[in-house]
Order: sequence, then C-alpha cells, then structure tokens
Amino acid sequence: MKSPQFLQLHRPDDRALAAGAAAGLLARPAQVSPKFFYDALGSRLFDAITELAEYYPTRTEAAIFERHGAAIAQAALAATGAQPVLVDLGAGNCAKAARLFGALAPRRYVAVDIAADFLRQSLQQLQQAHPLIAMLGLGLDFSMRLELPADTVSGPALVFYPGSSIGNFAPDGALRLLREAREVAAGGALLIGADLVKPTALLEAAYDDDLGVTAAFNLNLLKHLNRLLGADFDVRGWRHLACFDAEASRIEMHLEARGATTVRWPGGERAFRPGERIHTENSYKWTPEGFGALLRRAGFERLQVWTDPKGWFGVWLACD
Ligand code: AVJ
Repeated sequence: MKSPQFLQLHRPDDRALAAGAAAGLLARPAQVSPKFFYDALGSRLFDAITELAEYYPTRTEAAIFERHGAAIAQAALAATGAQPVLVDLGAGNCAKAARLFGALAPRRYVAVDIAADFLRQSLQQLQQAHPLIAMLGLGLDFSMRLELPADTVSGPALVFYPGSSIGNFAPDGALRLLREAREVAAGGALLIGADLVKPTALLEAAYDDDLGVTAAFNLNLLKHLNRLLGADFDVRGWRHLACFDAEASRIEMHLEARGATTVRWPGGERAFRPGERIHTENSYKWTPEGFGALLRRAGFERLQVWTDPKGWFGVWLACD
C-alpha cells in the first residue's frame, strides 16, 4: 500500500502569519484575511456549511459535475493528454477531486491547502481508497503567490480550483492567481468554479444561515487569532454580519463589536468602539461574461462553460 508523500512546504510560518494578522487588526478599518478561518475546527465548520440548505454553491457545483462530468473530463483530457497530473488548489477534504478520479485516471494527485494538518488527514484516507495514484500534499498559502516546487508537475497538467474560492480575491488578485494557475498548468487546462450574481436575499441567506453555522465559522477566526497571536478576544462580545455590496458585486463578512472592548496581544492592542467592525471576508460574485473575460485576460484562449438550470454557478474549462 502506497502512502501519500507529504511535503510540508510552508509549515505555514506562524510568526509571519501572526505578524500579518496583527497588522490587519491595527488597520483602520480592521481587516483579517479569510485564510485565518481555516484552523482545524474552521475547516470542519466549513464542511458543515456546505451541508446547509442555504449554502447553495457546493451542491450546485456538484450537480453540474454530476450532469456534465463526463463531458468535462473528456474536454479536460483533450487538453492535457491521458493520465494527467491533477493539481487541486484549496483541496480541503479532497472530496471534489476524488469524484473526478474515475473519469480522469490521473497518474499523480497534488493537493494544495493552507490547512496542512487537515489536508494530511484527508490524503491519508484518500490514498487508502486509491492505492495506485501517487499523491502529494503541499501545505502552502498561495493567497499572495502560487508557485509549486520544481518537479511537482511535469508536462501539461489539469489545475482544479473548484468551489468558487477565487471569489475571495478582488478582480486584480484573481487575475494574478489565474495567470499563475496557467503557468502551473503548463499548456494543460484550468478547471475552475465561480459563483454567479443572483438575488441579494439568496446571497445573504447563504452567508447568514438560520443555524448560525456561518456565524460560528466567522467567530472561530477570533479563537484562531487568540492561539496564533496570544490575543484575548472574548468571542461573546462579537456579532457575525454578512451583506451583499451590489456595487462591488461581493458578499462581505464582518465581525462587529457588541460593546466597547480592547483586545490585547503580546506587542500590541486595539480598542474597538461599540459597533466597530473587523472585515473578515470578501466573496465576489461574477457574471458569466465577466468571468470569461477575466480568464481571457489571464491568457486562456479556449473556454468552455457549464452552468446549472438556474444559472447560479459556473464551471469553466480554460485552455491555452
Ligand atoms: C470557500 C471562499 C468559497 O466564499 O462561499 C462560506 C467561504 N464563507 N461561507 C465562500 C465561505 C462563508 C467560501 N469559499
């Protein structure tokens, strides 16, 4: 039985991460990157979010793959050749990529995620089920720059970036990441999911569910910062907020101080007035035309897109 080769490239440098988080807390308005959602509990809370009735993206994307998976895989293989290397960005529990294994027969699976320990556990299970596929896990943060170690990908690859995580990037950053993904694909293809603009009420419900799972996911970021920074956030003093900014075409998530509070950590502190916020996430929603244009600007010339009957979510296969 093969076991996954696990390369912890970026034992994500906790000191650098902590310095970035502290700088964000001191900024006005305060802002903390959504990458800080994904500690061990946060990764599990995100998996729970994907099961919520209100959170349509995961299940809508899955339905697109269920209905069009054979055609998508065929088109992808036409670009990469048989038995491609499959590079999974933000792999998480690796379930989406695993559903493509049958149709793609990848020779090698490279899973990349900032939550390295969660990824390691996911890959260990996956390797048991697929002993013949070589697997490599990379614990790295590609939010600033996507670059894989030399020799992880040889020849045309299929880069897989599902789930609309590209939505965490503003258009400039998204363009940069798509260009880097094109470099990684090395003449192969990018298979990417993007969430689409839809009525505000549906969007806001998806990011503020009845059970409060998304609220817990957002608030858990404060517990993660308490550990990472040695900060003293009292989670009960904060409220989860989600609202759609139609102008910017993005859901914004914030944490709002219920009352006046001062947060302290070794080397710093920040006082918050009642109602003052920490901006924790942007989740951009695209039009089909807008996302296609972005892919073209990133250098992809041949695009195919599949959507669901309601037009809520899009899956693009982009090739040179
Ligand atoms: C993982 C970035 C795709 O933006 O929908 C879910 C994260 N935030 N609920 C998203 C998230 C709140 C999610 N992505």
